[in-house]
Amino acid sequence: MAAIFLLLLSLLTFTGDVISTTTPYLSSETLFSNYDKMLDSFKIFIYPTPPITGGTIFTTTQESQFYTSLLSSPFVTEDPSQAHLFFIPFPSSLSTRNLARLIRNIRGNYPFWNRTLGADHFYLSAAGVDSSSDRNIVELKKNSIQISCFPTSSGLFIPHKDITLPPVHPFKAKSSVNNTLSFLGYMKPSGRSSSTLIEEIKKHPEFKVESEPGNRTREFIKSSRFCLFLYGDDMTWMVEAMALQCVPVVITDRPIQDLPLMDVMKWSEMAVFVSSSGGAKGLRRVLDVIELNGYEKMKESGVAATQHLAWNAEPQPHDAFHMIIYQLWLRRHTIRYARWVEQ
Ligand SMILES: *[C@@H]1O[C@H](CO)[C@@H](O)[C@H](O)[C@H]1NC(C)=O
Ligand SMILES: *[C@@H]1O[C@H](CO)[C@@H](O)[C@H](O)[C@H]1NC(C)=O
Ligand SMILES: *[C@@H]1O[C@H](CO)[C@@H](O)[C@H](O)[C@H]1NC(C)=O
Repeated sequence: MAAIFLLLLSLLTFTGDVISTTTPYLSSETLFSNYDKMLDSFKIFIYPTPPITGGTIFTTTQESQFYTSLLSSPFVTEDPSQAHLFFIPFPSSLSTRNLARLIRNIRGNYPFWNRTLGADHFYLSAAGVDSSSDRNIVELKKNSIQISCFPTSSGLFIPHKDITLPPVHPFKAKSSVNNTLSFLGYMKPSGRSSSTLIEEIKKHPEFKVESEPGNRTREFIKSSRFCLFLYGDDMTWMVEAMALQCVPVVITDRPIQDLPLMDVMKWSEMAVFVSSSGGAKGLRRVLDVIELNGYEKMKESGVAATQHLAWNAEPQPHDAFHMIIYQLWLRRHTIRYARWVEQ
């Protein structure tokens, strides 16, 4: 038994620096011990849903998936005295005026808002709540945790406080990946995006650029070493790319602070972030360096991370739903005033 174990251990260390040193986590120890505590104790109180005129409360699949998963989860409590956090559901289409009224009612009718001025509250808003001079919206925006859809190109995201939902995109986990690599990079810009960089990349024979919606995406992903994304453009297939061992390259001219699971994952070890200023040549140089140094590790980290970025109709341990809940759990410590002093 011991011999087999030793053999296994040496095999593991032999086949992979991968297994011994590569993980996508900032700290896997913290994550998994904290995660278990969360499963045991995390409780969320949900305020009544405001009346909705037609349709569903949330319009994006990510939001709906999170909301329905939450409603049927063991994290919901009807006893607010048990709750660590308070969820305010409202449709994204709610006008600023009605949102202000909703918060005013919550402030007046429940004792919880005044204890932290909203800091132990959270809400879903696909694009983010816009700033306003109304006191209620100011407190919601500044203090409460906003959960938006990635990428939040609107600038309505506050780093370290807010959270993003990974895109919903069906993909098969790493079953039988046998990539025949014919391209250095594959890019699928949406019709909307146009940039000189895309034009330059198109001329490069090592890159494959395809804008037509079609069903060869998977094939191109599997035959490319890197998958190229323009930040803010269609990024729904990023997780699929990672699952298929195509390392994401995100082209962005400013630091990205809204990546999903940023509190938990080391994105710099799974994806490449480059500015567009170097053009196709600069991009090529960056990718060459990574191919020589760290490419395999990035690929493995990416594959390992996909389970945490994947949505399941029936939530599974450590999947996207649970990781969002985990990020909320990390944000549960806030100062509560013992008594709200009226001014
Ligand atoms: C919360 O504080 C406001 C004053 O800022 C007050 O009008 C409101 O009644 C308080 N809410 C409760 C439930 O006491
Ligand atoms: C990968 O695919 C190629 C051809 O498509 C085949 O020759 C090769 O045996 C496959 N490798 C594995 C490990 O399945
Ligand atoms: C998808 O592939 C099938 C054949 O496999 C083809 O008939 C169909 O036209 C393709 N669809 C698109 C949108 O390219």
